[in-house]
Amino acid sequence: MTHASLSRPDPTSPSTYDLSGKRVVVVGGKTGIGLGIAKAAHRAGAAVTVASRRSVSAAERPDLAEFEQISLDIRDETAVRAAFETIGSLDHLVVTAGPELGSWGAFMDEDMRGLRSYLEGKFLGSWTCARHAAPRLPPGGSITLLTGGTAAKPKRGLTAVMATFAAVEAMSRSLALELGPVRVNTIRPGYVDTGLWDALPEAERADLREKVRANFPARHVGTIADIGHAAVFLMTNPYVTGSLLEVSGGELLVDWLF
Ligand SMILES: NC(=O)c1ccc[n+]([C@@H]2O[C@H](COP(=O)([O-])OP(=O)(O)OC[C@H]3O[C@@H](n4cnc5c(N)ncnc54)[C@H](OP(=O)(O)O)[C@@H]3O)[C@@H](O)[C@H]2O)c1
Repeated sequence: MTHASLSRPDPTSPSTYDLSGKRVVVVGGKTGIGLGIAKAAHRAGAAVTVASRRSVSAAERPDLAEFEQISLDIRDETAVRAAFETIGSLDHLVVTAGPELGSWGAFMDEDMRGLRSYLEGKFLGSWTCARHAAPRLPPGGSITLLTGGTAAKPKRGLTAVMATFAAVEAMSRSLALELGPVRVNTIRPGYVDTGLWDALPEAERADLREKVRANFPARHVGTIADIGHAAVFLMTNPYVTGSLLEVSGGELLVDWLF
């Protein structure tokens, strides 16, 4: 057997969605899209830690019993550093955490508090988590960040969201280069029916769902499991880095909301 054949991976060995023996940390993983990713990773065999500000008991949230829980606010770098010191080594980080709907403020607001807090809770928060996880990730481990269709399609009143999401996507590509062989990717979801939309009256929310079902090319209302599936792919495929994976039912191909 030659040296070359020894060092070359077997091209016939199948890629799998298996995360057995891996440790996955999902920041934002106690609700919504993060929870979908945590469940998908757990189903694929990983030991999963979910982190966010709230701390919930097993009685309140029996569905979180299969995960280790950590409380942290991603706007607080000291807390993030301490959390990753406690976590120790991990194989994959996913950051879905982001501020509440409507918290970003408008461009012509009296001051820029909305923008600053949105940037802090999304862009700087994702940056901080990636920064403190990176030294603890193995070669081939991964970081997955999360944005949304607004990164690519401007909507009136959402300038802060567009700029923030675009910044997260740019950071993700740059980190793929900077942190390799750790892989770094972004998921850009379309509308996903989560608690994020709880702020809307139920009738408005039902109307939104109907618009998605009627207008998105996939004719399907995105679920947290759809995003979980994509996240496990990004964690397990060793050749994907610097990628932007749109999981959106084709949202950006149509005009549907504004
Ligand atoms: N759902 C959609 O249709 C959709 C579409 C495109 C993009 N997105 C984006 O996807 C992300 C996740 O959305 P989602 O639908 O999953 O919403 P979600 O259910 O409200 O999840 C957000 C999570 O982030 C955590 N979080 C918020 N601020 C935090 C902070 N400062 N530190 C730590 N954790 C924090 C929250 O938990 P705690 O309250 O416990 O901290 C919550 O678990 C958001 O950035 C959203 O803009 C969503």
